Amino acid sequence: MKLLIDDAHIDLIKRIYEFYPVDGVTTNPTILAKGGRNPYEVLKEIRTFIGEGAQLHVQAVSREAAGMVKEAKRIVAELGENTFVKIPSLPEGFKAMKMLREEGIRFTATAVYTPMQAFLAAKCGASYTAPYINRIDNLGYNGVQVAKNIHDIFRNNRLETQVLAASFKNSQQLLELCEYGIGAATVAPEVIEGLVKNQAVTAAVDEFIKDFEGLTGTGKDMSSC
Ligand code: E4P
Repeated sequence: MKLLIDDAHIDLIKRIYEFYPVDGVTTNPTILAKGGRNPYEVLKEIRTFIGEGAQLHVQAVSREAAGMVKEAKRIVAELGENTFVKIPSLPEGFKAMKMLREEGIRFTATAVYTPMQAFLAAKCGASYTAPYINRIDNLGYNGVQVAKNIHDIFRNNRLETQVLAASFKNSQQLLELCEYGIGAATVAPEVIEGLVKNQAVTAAVDEFIKDFEGLTGTGKDMSSC
């Protein structure tokens, strides 16, 4: 499962990159609005930091297909080939997806709440479809189950599209989808950091260090004892 950062704050992205094996960054208009800066200024900063080899997902905001395609062309021209344009899974979005496939521009179908939205997007040639796990849960349905159903639909229909699960609130949601072998998940920095926040782990490591220093002296380690 690829793991992406769902945020546009460069300091948070740098922090996660320093410690964890991540594959790229996803953004949406709300995430960009939080920064209060020009979207391309922020996105270029992110691209420069993560490099051309990492995935960057950027959303189009037009309501009509022609506008989405126009945005997609600029997004890829400004941010490079390894940029996936996020297209909402609405009627105009599906129309745009078919046009983007013709143009050879890769895209991620976003705002996915049902398996059949994902199926249609996959038939339009989406590289990824992004079911919103926590938002689906908040509607009284089971977001993890929806993502699993989508994964099964793709495999059973021999579609190459991958699930890029999004909108996580906790590590349990992520664990279940990781166990299931979905293609990718995009996760907020605090949820990624929460994956290893465990007092039992830090207590175990503290005890090892205390015992070692008791044996060899304060500040000593295996390179200096
Ligand atoms: C992904 O495509 C969405 O933009 C995003 O992950 C939504 O996350 P949220 O429900 O935490 O806002």
